[in-house]
Amino acid sequence: MFKIGVMASGGGSNFKAIIDRIGEGDLEAQCKFLIVNNGGCGAAAHAEEYGIPVHHISGKTHPDQAEYESALLSVLDKYNVDLLILAGYMKALPQSMLRRMPNRILNIHPSLLPKFGGKGFWGIHVHEAVVAAHETESGATVHLVGEQIDGGRILAQVKVPVLPDDTPGVLQARVLEQEHNLYWKAISDYAKELSL
Ligand code: GAR
Repeated sequence: MFKIGVMASGGGSNFKAIIDRIGEGDLEAQCKFLIVNNGGCGAAAHAEEYGIPVHHISGKTHPDQAEYESALLSVLDKYNVDLLILAGYMKALPQSMLRRMPNRILNIHPSLLPKFGGKGFWGIHVHEAVVAAHETESGATVHLVGEQIDGGRILAQVKVPVLPDDTPGVLQARVLEQEHNLYWKAISDYAKELSL
């Protein structure tokens, strides 16, 4: 049984989907903590419901950059997890965190990377760009997190059609539903690759 920690910023449906798969025995992992950069977010509410410790760490709670980074690193030190899972975490991680966990940080992105990735492509903005470009398919990607935003090794992808009448919101919902099936499996497969 390997240990994960999760970071999230928003509604937390991916976080909840992962915890539910752990609960159902599909993903043989333990979730040790959730870090949020917004204390009132849906992800934090899910964590409280499941009894998972929540750490609220942001530029507001820790205005000094060195203290901010050391707060994040101290959570990693405390729980010593095998994998760090970004589940709708909308802030770039500091270099000190990337260096602490090389090839151990995973992210899910709501497009078929390398398309519609990088600076400015997050959340609904990704789907707005996909619809504006008249793409006929989109999807989601699970990838390793490295120095380049959305640029690490791709671990898994799922495709969904983009329909002619889709609004960004309709497309977002279709992609999100598939993210929930994709992420836990990609985590499980990668843990097997690492022999965790
Ligand atoms: C998901 O669609 C995820 O792929 C995206 O934010 C949403 C979070 O939803 N992540 C990014 O855009 C990261 N660049 P959730 O809070 O319901 O899991």
